Amino acid sequence: MCGISGVVGFENISKSLLDSIRNLEYRGYDSCGVAILDDGCITIKKNIGQVDEVNEKERLTDLEGRAGIAHTRWATHGGVTRENSHPHASCRGDFAVVHNGIISNYHTLKAGLKREGHQFLSDTDTEVIAHLLEKYYSSTGDVEDAFIKSINILEGTYAIAMISVYEPEKIFCAKNESPLILGIGNDVNYIGSDFNAFIDYTKNTVVLDDKEYAIISKENYIVKDNIRGERVDKEITKIEWDAEMAKKGGYPHYMLKEIYEQPQSIINALNVDRKIIKKVASLIMDSDRTYLLGVGTTYYVSLLGEYYFSSYAGSHLSAISSDEFKNLAEVTDKTLVIAISQSGETYDSINALKYAKANKARTVSIVNVIGSSIARMVDLSIMQGSGPEICVISTKAAISQMIILISIALELGNMRKKITKKEKKRLEKELIKLPTIIQNILNEKSGFVNNIAQRYSGIKNWLYLGRGVYYPIALESALKMKEVAYIHAEGMPGGFLKHGTIALIDEDLYTVGFIPPREEKDLYPLIMGSIEEVKARNGFVMGFHFGDKEKDYKLFDEEIILPKVDKVIAPFLQLILGQLLAYFAAISLKRNIDRPRSLAKSVTVA
Ligand code: M6R
Repeated sequence: MCGISGVVGFENISKSLLDSIRNLEYRGYDSCGVAILDDGCITIKKNIGQVDEVNEKERLTDLEGRAGIAHTRWATHGGVTRENSHPHASCRGDFAVVHNGIISNYHTLKAGLKREGHQFLSDTDTEVIAHLLEKYYSSTGDVEDAFIKSINILEGTYAIAMISVYEPEKIFCAKNESPLILGIGNDVNYIGSDFNAFIDYTKNTVVLDDKEYAIISKENYIVKDNIRGERVDKEITKIEWDAEMAKKGGYPHYMLKEIYEQPQSIINALNVDRKIIKKVASLIMDSDRTYLLGVGTTYYVSLLGEYYFSSYAGSHLSAISSDEFKNLAEVTDKTLVIAISQSGETYDSINALKYAKANKARTVSIVNVIGSSIARMVDLSIMQGSGPEICVISTKAAISQMIILISIALELGNMRKKITKKEKKRLEKELIKLPTIIQNILNEKSGFVNNIAQRYSGIKNWLYLGRGVYYPIALESALKMKEVAYIHAEGMPGGFLKHGTIALIDEDLYTVGFIPPREEKDLYPLIMGSIEEVKARNGFVMGFHFGDKEKDYKLFDEEIILPKVDKVIAPFLQLILGQLLAYFAAISLKRNIDRPRSLAKSVTVA
């Protein structure tokens, strides 16, 4: 949700600044811009469009300078216009700022600044920061002092970076509830919303905490406390990801690359330290109730977890969408909350966790980004090790989170004597087979799914029907279709259909049936019953199933047949089909695969 970056060094930094917003573009891509300091003067270039388009129009790399800040935007306040793109400058142009987050008191601040004669050029909340800096500097004559005064008057969420003609060799930055980290190099230092901003240049990072600010120069960095202005000692963390992992590596899109990386990300998830898995299972045992928390895809991951905990551990954990957590959860010091998040920066999940912590709950997270806010705010964090997920559409991160939840469920099932040690071992062996099976499906079925996707990409409305654990798989597959292909797909439990939605079924509403293996005796006949209901009303049905040619399958107008596997891993095979179908439908419709409209990789606003 907007990416901010900054570079200060001995040499011209314009190329590394451009690289930084190219690598952060998945956070927002309505517009972008840079501000560079050279010869005591700040030059700003910005425009609407994606980074490469703006670079072509504005020739961003023609700028020269040794300190600069940059921004790639996902609009919140003010439309997508050149004026609203960042950086924003003060009236005299002696301060320039970029910002990610929302300044909630900006109306009041703006009105006051206007009365004092400041001229505003944009509709953004961010621009007030530039004018505040100018105002305070004119009374104190000290940039750091003006910076502290400005950030301390702001309400809301922010990661801010600022340059000023009065301190031409420094970048000032501050954070409150929006991500911001420093990159520590040799004779050049960086800031960024995440590692990708400087992954090509350094692996050493310092993670800022809320209410901290930092000043970086080419040879140094210093972190201080906003309130007391005192120096804070921070550890340098080494990033394990390398630049190559964050590149497309020959794939046309990150989404396809990340779909193909799922076998490896599952292996990494299965290799998560057993001690941590056991520890989380024990925490669940010791808690009165456990909530699984996520939003969007991670809510569906949580929902899938809920089914596995019920089936294999005999425990009902409640999955709640983070944005509704406060409205639903009952939290005490006997509650455990497991938050699931790829980015570790999702506002709704952070907010829910804060509420849980304020009510003394114990907290665990399953997170992909080291040093992210969610990883740092919980009592125990599981790093899922999926590697960088760049495409806005989550695939490999989600499947890894599911696998980790299943590992915990099996551990808990054994602790609670719902499954024997032998059965647990057997199920774990099945999970180990999953990467190879998925690899084969990717190799063997992609072409076929592509053909199907092309054939049906013109269909505007889909119903994705599943029962039991296949219901969250249907929901997640439908979300993929909506996000990347902009096709309406509604996930629903098969049993729910007859309670209303069945009225929609006719030859124009297409259905995908997520059919479990036949041995799922509680699910199979019921979902086939739902499919019969659709067929009886002239609905078209595509079946994802594991079958041989049995009479039931005559019901399908189209089918994708999967290999027979154990029921513990069967749902994942259908998840892969759902991802591929969405990807190829989007290709056929010429969608912007890695950066779908209106979306951003990490949603850091309410
Ligand atoms: O970074 P998070 O996993 O916390 O993000 C949660 C959702 O915003 C995210 O899963 C979203 O639904 C994705 N676009 C799914 O593909």
